[in-house]
Amino acid sequence: LNYHMTRFILSAPDIRHLPPDVGVEIAFAGRSNAGKSSALNTLTGQKSLARTSKTPGRTQLINLFETAENCRLVDLPGYGYAEVPEEVKRKWQKSLGEYLQMRNSLRGLVILMDIRHPLKELDVNMINWAVDANLAVLVLLTKSDKLASGAMKKQVREVREALSELNADIEVEPFSSTKKVGVDKLKAKLNQWFSE
Ligand code: GTP
Ligand code: MG
Repeated sequence: LNYHMTRFILSAPDIRHLPPDVGVEIAFAGRSNAGKSSALNTLTGQKSLARTSKTPGRTQLINLFETAENCRLVDLPGYGYAEVPEEVKRKWQKSLGEYLQMRNSLRGLVILMDIRHPLKELDVNMINWAVDANLAVLVLLTKSDKLASGAMKKQVREVREALSELNADIEVEPFSSTKKVGVDKLKAKLNQWFSE
């Protein structure tokens, strides 16, 4: 697949507004500010396809993109960000939960975690949930450019070790949008999931 061909389809406030549940969707999930939208832009070679921000909580809707017919990528709102009004938070966490549970075409989750702060409680919950739901999972440790090479490798090793206990065949890769690290690994995994 040519990810540079990806185009925006729509932003949905909840699952009722999504297009028909056919084909394959792969969603980018993670804590607020983990770098989900940036990773999508890096993958697709498009600077502002998905909206990014220094302020956590930027992505508040379910954003759908189409790479090819019936091959969609989804930018999800981040979880775990406290500083938005309770009302707003409730609404978007509800949409997120509904999406994850109800969407038949959802085949895989790319779970992104800041390499400096991996495996927070909500990340572990998300990973466990995905394993239980039989969803394929790829873990990207984002902002790998923020650590020196040795520290970076140590973090990758530790997260791999922690997740190997789940016996769920979850790959863990370093990723950097600024330095374009891990992009080929991400593409290979998406290609595999889209073609299964
Ligand atoms: P929400 O939509 O709020 O959940 O956030 P998000 O996960 O989509 O994060 P986003 O892509 O908006 O990035 C958050 C911040 O991290 C922005 O200031 C980005 O510029 C920065 N960032 C993202 N990826 C990288 C990276 O690989 N390296 C560095 N150094 N900064 C990054
Ligand atoms: Mg975002």
